[in-house]
Amino acid sequence: MRKSLLEFVSDEEDQVSVENVIKATLIGTHVNKIGSSTNIFKRTLESVPEINSECFVLNGDKLTSFMQAISNQSSSSKSPLSLGKYILDEEAEAWLDGNKFFQRHAVVVGSTGSGKSWSVARLLEQVSELNASNAVVFDIHGEYKSLESAGFVHYKVAGPNDKPKNDVIFLPYWLLTYEEMLSMLLDRSDNNAPNQAMIFSNSVLIEKESLLKENDLLQEYENFTLDSPIPYKLENVLEFLKIKDLEMVEGSRGPKQGPFNGKLTRFIQRLNAKMSDKRLSFLFNESNDLLKLDYLDELAEKLIGWSSNETSGVKIIDFSEVPSDILPLIIGLVTRLIFSIQQWTIRENRHPVALFCDEAHLYIPSSSDNTLDNHANQTFERVAKEGRKYGVALVVISQRPSEVNRTVLSQCNNFVALRLTNVDDQNVVKRLLPDSLGNFAELLPVLDIGEAIVVGDSSLLPSRIKVQEPTLKPTSGTIDFWDEWSDRTTPTTISTSINSMRKQSRQ
Ligand SMILES: Nc1ncnc2c1ncn2[C@@H]1O[C@H](COP(=O)(O)OP(=O)(O)OP(=O)(O)O)[C@@H](O)[C@H]1O
Ligand SMILES: [Mg+2]
Repeated sequence: MRKSLLEFVSDEEDQVSVENVIKATLIGTHVNKIGSSTNIFKRTLESVPEINSECFVLNGDKLTSFMQAISNQSSSSKSPLSLGKYILDEEAEAWLDGNKFFQRHAVVVGSTGSGKSWSVARLLEQVSELNASNAVVFDIHGEYKSLESAGFVHYKVAGPNDKPKNDVIFLPYWLLTYEEMLSMLLDRSDNNAPNQAMIFSNSVLIEKESLLKENDLLQEYENFTLDSPIPYKLENVLEFLKIKDLEMVEGSRGPKQGPFNGKLTRFIQRLNAKMSDKRLSFLFNESNDLLKLDYLDELAEKLIGWSSNETSGVKIIDFSEVPSDILPLIIGLVTRLIFSIQQWTIRENRHPVALFCDEAHLYIPSSSDNTLDNHANQTFERVAKEGRKYGVALVVISQRPSEVNRTVLSQCNNFVALRLTNVDDQNVVKRLLPDSLGNFAELLPVLDIGEAIVVGDSSLLPSRIKVQEPTLKPTSGTIDFWDEWSDRTTPTTISTSINSMRKQSRQ
């Protein structure tokens, strides 16, 4: 509604003409009765109100019944999904359509502290209560550790001091594709980069081939490629590279330097440095258990298993000890594995899985010249475009939607938008929201903490919802600076922190 001053109509100062304008957006038709069903809301328009017709504000019982009409249509399933109550009517539960929410991907956005992690926890706790649910949460800060109950399984990507055990995940290097491996090891500005890449790939091929032969896997042997997830020993590759780097060959006038002599030295140094980097032990640990062919089966069971009590439910994977520069590569790897396994599963056996990507701007960036990030982006774009067909849903969670890959965002059809103060971020969200539904985006900066605008397939109408507090809260608690500063009872643990920094582990 807009009120504006038209003009002075007389010489007397206080006599002015004011124009009141109401802009109406037509959103659907509410009917009391169609056939045997009552209180129906439809998103189609059967008639358009005439100019000068009377209009009414919905309140009291009428509002409650209208809200019920909207939510009943979204809650027809056995275990409906709800984020909270409508702001317009605190009695009415805001049901969402759980199928539609995950079918066509979802986005949860909001400035820092606006309540994203809590909203996600509210969603997750309902997911975890379903019998055979299957969701993976990429937990970047270890915030979701506190979600401990029957439907949650917790894993941690191994830190420098972790040994292979059940709740620790190692992601051995042999799961990386050739290009991913090279983006970590190769310095493309080196003159010898093409030689280094060639010798490396030859050696990896030989190693993979010999493992398949040893295990009599003939069909696999016929069809394997450089990128097939087949274990190989990096130590052997290193040996091969060293031999080539020092090789002397017979020349016409006695021994002379081989074709790769001295050209691989820098590559060998980089490889050695990576292999001995304690922070990367989850990638380069060469324990025999991790070099077994069926390690991938065990890993996949942890990631997307759903048939037993131990594996089914919401899998929270703590990435807090993964170095931030390779975070995109590693999360991209996990996503690629999950997506490929789903793709290779025959349709009747496919069980859907949802990937909750918290702090998505860190590993699905909108622009980057870093090849490590590009691999992750390609994977996520693929999942965003094709995931629906293979039962892989994305829930992209970010405080900086303007820094998240646009292709991925534009494939998402459900929005949970919490308070968003930054103008760039607001504009991104504005562009993504369907404009036929009124200017909901204008509310973004004025929402309260925990208040969300929910728009999309899963909700019949765009709704402003007060997200209900989750029973199990993430440990993302806001720190009260002033109160903390007024109080000296917290023990000082600075030297413990420094120790942790040296050990690269908080334990
Ligand atoms: N639905 C809610 N009801 C009441 N309080 C809430 C709600 N959601 C969030 N809060 C409060 O806001 C704080 C921050 O919420 P949350 O950790 O979910 O923010 P966030 O958006 O994930 O922030 P960040 O982007 O920094 O991770 C919580 O600790 C809690 O005190
Ligand atoms: Mg958060």
